[in-house]
Amino acid sequence: METVLSGIRPTGNLHLGNYFGALKNFIKMQNEYNCYFFIADYHSLTTHPNPENLQNNVRQILIEYLAAGLDPEKCTLYIQSDVPEVIELYLFLNMNAYIGELERCASFKDKIRKNPQNINAGLLTYPTLMAADILLHKATKVPVGKDQEQHLEMTRTFANRFNRIYGVDYFVEPQAFNFGENLVKIPGLNGSGKMGKSEGEGNAIYLADKPDMIRKKVMKAVTDSGPTIENQEKPEVIKNLFQLMSVVSTPDTVQYFDEQYNKCAIRYGDMKKQLAEDMIKFVSPFTERIEELKADNEYLEKVVKIGAEKARESARKTIKEVREIIGFKSSL
Ligand code: TYM
Repeated sequence: METVLSGIRPTGNLHLGNYFGALKNFIKMQNEYNCYFFIADYHSLTTHPNPENLQNNVRQILIEYLAAGLDPEKCTLYIQSDVPEVIELYLFLNMNAYIGELERCASFKDKIRKNPQNINAGLLTYPTLMAADILLHKATKVPVGKDQEQHLEMTRTFANRFNRIYGVDYFVEPQAFNFGENLVKIPGLNGSGKMGKSEGEGNAIYLADKPDMIRKKVMKAVTDSGPTIENQEKPEVIKNLFQLMSVVSTPDTVQYFDEQYNKCAIRYGDMKKQLAEDMIKFVSPFTERIEELKADNEYLEKVVKIGAEKARESARKTIKEVREIIGFKSSL
């Protein structure tokens, strides 16, 4: 059976970008594949969270994963730092990862542009750690959003390079996965193009957002002054609003506002009101479930323990084999 793996950094609550870019596919896949889903807490250290925040964020994201529909009976759900074997693979892969290729990575360039005061080695080698996450369980399908495409390409490079250097056919190439469709990029509300936790205030709608918060954010979404020529092409910010609508509203609703736009009769205020109500409808079952799970520490602890055991079993096997391939033997 093919293995599927994906992960999310615990640096804030889950937003609709995380859900539609990665989680939604994963939830569908957990019934049919050997699935691993993890909380990438080692990755989150690049931004230096304090210990209390780290702990709270891991707990919160675990709750939100479960609320969104990950089923620990069907998939292996674990916390990355509970499986320290990944660090050993990270080290091995780093030995054959070149500075030039790491520096060219788009997410690295973006991060150093945004935070020039914190260009650390963890940030530079972020793609090797991600490759280690994937190769540790020999995952072949990785449901992720469009922003992760380049990291998957680098993972394939590292896997092939390892095979070539050691003359083995050990690692298999993983592919980014979205059921044969293009990978998704969910836009944000403030015109930044991508919904994300570091894309500015009011940009993201979170699964834990209360209705009033959603209304407030959506009503502030960036628009333009409206179309003046029938059937004119939509500018980027308006396309974004329509794309957001297409994930939470019915096709009829989207079509209605599209027609209004094409006739130059659109009222963005009405469109935003509708979008806010449809987002509230979408998010509210998650919000309720999040509240229930918050109160159930015993269950959460059980989930984490079982996940760590299952993930370590697969991780230990890989590390043992990789050590042998590299030439570490148990006796001299
Ligand atoms: P992270 O935490 O930034 O995001 C988690 C997942 O959500 C997707 N995503 C989006 N998809 C569509 N539109 C958006 N606006 C949007 N924002 C986020 C991301 O593509 C991602 O799938 N490096 C990863 C975490 C990670 C990982 C891994 C993923 C670490 N190791 C191994 C897969 C396999 C990250 O930072 O995701």
